[in-house]
Amino acid sequence: MEILTSIKAWQEWRNTIEPEKSVGLVPTMGALHAGHQSLIARCRRENDICTISLFVNPTQFNDQSDLANYPSTFDADRALCEAEGVDAIFFPQYSELYPDNYRYRVTENEESRLLCGAHRPGHFDGVLSVVMKLLNLARPRHAYFGEKDWQQLQLVKGMVEAFFMPVTIVPCPTVREDDQLALSSRNVRLSPAHRQKAAGFPRLLATPAPAEDVCRLLEEDGFEVDYVQDFKGRRCAAIQCGGVRLIDNMPLRKGDGQ
Ligand code: PAF
Repeated sequence: MEILTSIKAWQEWRNTIEPEKSVGLVPTMGALHAGHQSLIARCRRENDICTISLFVNPTQFNDQSDLANYPSTFDADRALCEAEGVDAIFFPQYSELYPDNYRYRVTENEESRLLCGAHRPGHFDGVLSVVMKLLNLARPRHAYFGEKDWQQLQLVKGMVEAFFMPVTIVPCPTVREDDQLALSSRNVRLSPAHRQKAAGFPRLLATPAPAEDVCRLLEEDGFEVDYVQDFKGRRCAAIQCGGVRLIDNMPLRKGDGQ
C-alpha cells in the first residue's frame, strides 16, 4: 500500500495506472470506522484500484473548537486501509492542497444554505472545494460517499453534474450501531452517558409524524435541536448531545405528515 503525502508523489503514482483500469476513491477525514470500512470494501469490489484520501479539511469547519477536537487516528486508519486492501492513501498537508490559501472556492447558492448549511456558514463551500480538488487529483471513475451526510451527497452529485466532471458518485447506505445510532467519527467524543442517550436520536427521528412534532419530541428528550427538516425524500436532522453535533436522516414514509 502506498502512502503519498505530496501532490507530486500522488500524481506520479496516479500516472503509472493504465487508462483502462478503473480507479475508485473514498474521500475521508480519517478517524475511520465501520461506515468508512463499508465504503472502502465497496470501492475495492467495484474497481481495479482502490484509493482513499485522509485529510481533515479546515475550510469546512466553521467552529474552530470542532476542528481542534476532531479525532486523529492515523496509525489505526493505516492499519484498517491495509487490511481492506487499499492500494494508495493520499494524506496531504493543507499547504499542498490549498496552494492558493482558499482564494478560489466552489459555492452552491441554494441548497447549501439549508439544513446544515444554515447552521454552519461556509461549511459546504469547504466540502465542495476540497472534494473538487480530490476528484481532480485522483481522477477516479467512481467516488464513494455515505448517505449519512445526505445533504453533502446531494451537493456533491450536483457539483459533478454542473461541472461535467467525469466521475460517478456512488451513494452508500448509513452503517448503524446495534441501537441504531449512525456511525460517525464524532461518536467517540460522547461520554458514556451521552452515548447511551444518543440512541434516542435515531429512535425519535423514525417517529411517523410531521417534522415539527419530531423536533418537539427530541427537545422533550433533552436534545438541543439544530433542525428537523424534510429534504429530497429524506427526513434530515442535526442535534447537539453533550456538546457533540450529530446528524442523521431517514427515508420519508407515509404517516410522516407529508
Ligand atoms: O464526509 C466527509 O468526511 C468530508 O466532508 C469529505 C467528503 C471527506 C470532505 O472533506
